[in-house]
Amino acid sequence: MKRETVIVIDFGGQYNQLVARRVRECNVYCEIYSYKTNIDKIKEMNPKGIILTGGPNSCYLEDSPSCSKELFELGIPVLGLCYGAQLMMHVLGGKVEKASVREYGKTELHVDTESKLFTGVEEDTMCWMSHFDYISKTAPGFRVCAQTRDCPVAAAEDPERKLYAIQFHPEVLHTVRGKEILHNYVYQICGCAGDWKMDSFVENSIRAIREKVGDGKVLCGLSGGVDSSVAAVLLSRAVGKQLTCVFVDHGLLRKDEGDEVEAVFGPEGPYDLNFIRVNAQDRFYIKLAGVDEPEQKRKIIGEEFIRVFEEEAKKIGAVDYLVQGTIYPDVVESGLGGESAVIKSHHNVGGLPDYVDFKEIIEPLRDLFKDEVRQAGLELGIPEYLVFRQPFPGPGLGIRIVGDITAEKVRMVQEADAIYREEVARAGLDREINQYFAALTNMRSVGVMGDERTYDYAVALRAVKTIDFMTAEAADIPFEVLNKVMNRIINEVRGVNRVFYDLTSKPPGTIEFE
Ligand code: XMP
Repeated sequence: MKRETVIVIDFGGQYNQLVARRVRECNVYCEIYSYKTNIDKIKEMNPKGIILTGGPNSCYLEDSPSCSKELFELGIPVLGLCYGAQLMMHVLGGKVEKASVREYGKTELHVDTESKLFTGVEEDTMCWMSHFDYISKTAPGFRVCAQTRDCPVAAAEDPERKLYAIQFHPEVLHTVRGKEILHNYVYQICGCAGDWKMDSFVENSIRAIREKVGDGKVLCGLSGGVDSSVAAVLLSRAVGKQLTCVFVDHGLLRKDEGDEVEAVFGPEGPYDLNFIRVNAQDRFYIKLAGVDEPEQKRKIIGEEFIRVFEEEAKKIGAVDYLVQGTIYPDVVESGLGGESAVIKSHHNVGGLPDYVDFKEIIEPLRDLFKDEVRQAGLELGIPEYLVFRQPFPGPGLGIRIVGDITAEKVRMVQEADAIYREEVARAGLDREINQYFAALTNMRSVGVMGDERTYDYAVALRAVKTIDFMTAEAADIPFEVLNKVMNRIINEVRGVNRVFYDLTSKPPGTIEFE
């Protein structure tokens, strides 16, 4: 690995993404790998530090996720968090047992400030605990360096072997000095220099893209969403007019969105881009007709996108590279990184067809989280109103229409969504809700309107608060706003006679419906 990197080994804990983000916030690049990753691969990566995450298992049970003892003998500083801490003790000869009390929530912590982990931290502070098992005996060579009332080993260290174990969660903001503790690990213990910054990311990416592309031609799939817009501007900065941006109107965009995207990136907009708009509604509708299985819909949309790009590339001639705005959570959720199962095939990752007629696909944002993409966008001088737009998925309304897709259903969801967005903005809530939209359920029910029986569709309204889009809470929209939206949708959108508000958080739900 040329770039200074700390790796996070994922044991299935819920805060794993957060650990990686916190390390990156220290300006050190960080990636997540499954606990099943081969030790030789880890050696090859030669990371500056290795963090073992929490997880739901008990490390002393036979089938629990584990790691090789060799991991602790590489001379690379290892930090175990929660399950990771217990596993470190278990593997190295300490003892982990079920505790008589479960420690959960904000907990008072007493630390030994002599430990490098706790440099600059007060002796008495607050941490976030969440565990059943506890370390009842440290492994030989370790000394305890933090305790709580119920936890005799809240942290332990063996500085000589550069091994550190923390029972609590420094990555969670409730651990008041968590950021400092991770900062200490990364700088004082791993000796990182901290060269991961957005301006250097942008500069380095531009340089790397120029080197790779040379004087070749590049095609960028532009949807007008944050990710692909940032990717397009980055590419255009790198290779100028060698880049052509293709915007596919697949007939699954929000109301008026096609024209809005064209106004920004087309010839009348502020960017000097080769911009092609392809109105491909019909071919998408034909391919999707009668298909109701979500993964199949995603795959069809993903494949059709690529086919349109290939056709456009042929017209331009000799295009070697296709650029996509894939970001890190897309990669993780599509099951290509870390320990996660396939949640859904993001159209631009797992949704790719087997054969793609380009020499190479360039995904310059593949390593970034959403907020990092936004930072890169600002760094590139993209206006704030574009950078902070709410995300819109590539498969568009296709995954917000439950079941099969028809032009008529698209019209209903477009109109309902436009009303919803208008009212949320009018109520001044659009800045505080991170993503909100209307979806069309596949449910029809009986209603009555103007003395007539109706048998129409139900619209679901979704609004979530989230930072990283990996977890989310339903937003608390005032009832009168919801009521107004409901009234307008029922009155103005033909074919809809019922409106629901979706209260589900993520997990267990996802943000989109399919
Ligand atoms: P989910 O539904 O997975 O959504 O909780 C998380 C975030 O990702 C967006 N999303 C997608 N974006 N292609 C995209 O570009 C996709 O296939 C896709 N699926 C979901 C979603 O809008 C939310 O912001």
